[in-house]
Amino acid sequence: MPNAYISGTGFYVPPRVVTNDQLVEEYGMDTSHEWIVKRTGIEERRFAEEGVGTADLATEASRMAIEDAGLETGDIDMIVFATLSPEHAFPGSGVYLQRNLGFADLKPPKFVPALDVRNQCSGFLYGLATAASMVQAGGVKHVLLVGAEIQSAGIDLTTRGRTVSSLFGDGAGAVVVSPTDEDRGVRGWWLGADGRFADALSQKVWDVRRRPFLKVDAEGNGFVPVEDVWAHMNGKVVFKHAVEKMILVMMQACWEQKITVKDIDLFYLHQANMRINQYVAKQLGLPDEKVVYNIQKYGNTTAATIPLMLAESQRDGRLQRGMKIALVAFGSGFTWGSAILDW
Ligand code: UT7
Repeated sequence: MPNAYISGTGFYVPPRVVTNDQLVEEYGMDTSHEWIVKRTGIEERRFAEEGVGTADLATEASRMAIEDAGLETGDIDMIVFATLSPEHAFPGSGVYLQRNLGFADLKPPKFVPALDVRNQCSGFLYGLATAASMVQAGGVKHVLLVGAEIQSAGIDLTTRGRTVSSLFGDGAGAVVVSPTDEDRGVRGWWLGADGRFADALSQKVWDVRRRPFLKVDAEGNGFVPVEDVWAHMNGKVVFKHAVEKMILVMMQACWEQKITVKDIDLFYLHQANMRINQYVAKQLGLPDEKVVYNIQKYGNTTAATIPLMLAESQRDGRLQRGMKIALVAFGSGFTWGSAILDW
C-alpha cells in the first residue's frame, strides 16, 4: 500500500481587505478594533465581492496546488470539496469547481467524481482522511482537496450579529493528495463528532421539516425570517468544547503515533480565536515558534483555514521537507479532527 502525501498546495484570498475599523465605519457595527483584537486576535479579514462564488475562490487555489504538485488538471482523479458556504443548497460546490477547471473540455473529457464534505471547520481534516484513504487503497491516484468559504454572505454584519460576524472571513486553500513509495506523508488521522451540540453553531436558512421548507406569506411568496438567515453561535459553549476537544484529539494523535508533542515541528491549529489556540498551546506545552497563525489577517475561514496555512507557510519557507507536522481542528457539529504528517 502506498503512502498518501500532499504533493502540492495552493491558496487564494479575495483582494478586498476589511479591517476591524471598517466594520465600524462601513457597516455601522457597534464594535471596536480593541475589542476584536483582545477577544479574538483578529485584525482584518477578506470579503469576496458580490457575484463571486465559493468554487471561484477554490478554482484559483486549485490551479496553484495542481501546478505546485507538478501536475496538470487532467492528472486529477477526484475532487473533494469542504465548505459550509456552498453556492446553493444543491448541487455542492465540487461540481462547480470541476466545471471551472474545465475537466469536460479535456481531450478526452474526464468526468472526475466530485465529493462535497459538510463538516465546517473540521471539513479539511475529514476531507484529508477521505482523500488519503482512497489514495492508499489505490482507488484513485491524485485527489484535489479544497477548503473554501464565502462567509461574508451568511453573516449579519450589523451590531445584532457582531458576536459572529466579527470573526469570519472568506478564502480558499487547496492541496493535492498523491501516492508515494517514499517514507513520508499522512501518518494517521483521528476524527470525532458530538451531535448533541449540533445547534450550538448553525445556520438554518431552510428547514425540510417544514411544508414547504421555506415559510410562505399570505400571498404565497416564500420568505426566510431574519433570525433564520444568519449563522448563530453559542460562543462560550463552542469555546469550551473547542479547547477540550483540540487538546484531546492532539493527545490521541501523539498516543497512537507513539510520539510526544516535542517530536512535532509545526502545529496547524484551526483558527477560530487566538485565545482558544493560545490556551491549547499552553496546555500542551507548545512553544510559540512552532505554532502557525493566520487569524490576524484572515479571521476564521473555517474549512479553508488549515490548507491556507499550509500553502502560505510552504511559500514563506517555514514548512520544510522532512518536518513532522500536526493539523488540528474543531467546529460546528460539533466535529473535530487531527492528523500527523511527515512533510
Ligand atoms: O470555528 C469554530 C467556531 N467558533 C469559535 O470557536 C468561537 C468560539 N467563541 C469565541 O471565540 C468567543 O465566545 C467570542 C469571541 C465569540 C465572544 O467572546 P466572549 O468573551 O465569549 O464574549 P461574550 O459572547 O460573552 O460577549 C461579551 C460581551 C457581550 O456584551 P454584554 O452582553 O456583556 O453587554 C457581547 O454583546 O461582548 C459583546 N460583544 C461584542 N462587543 C463588541 C460580542 N461581540 C462583540 C463585538 N464587539 N464584536
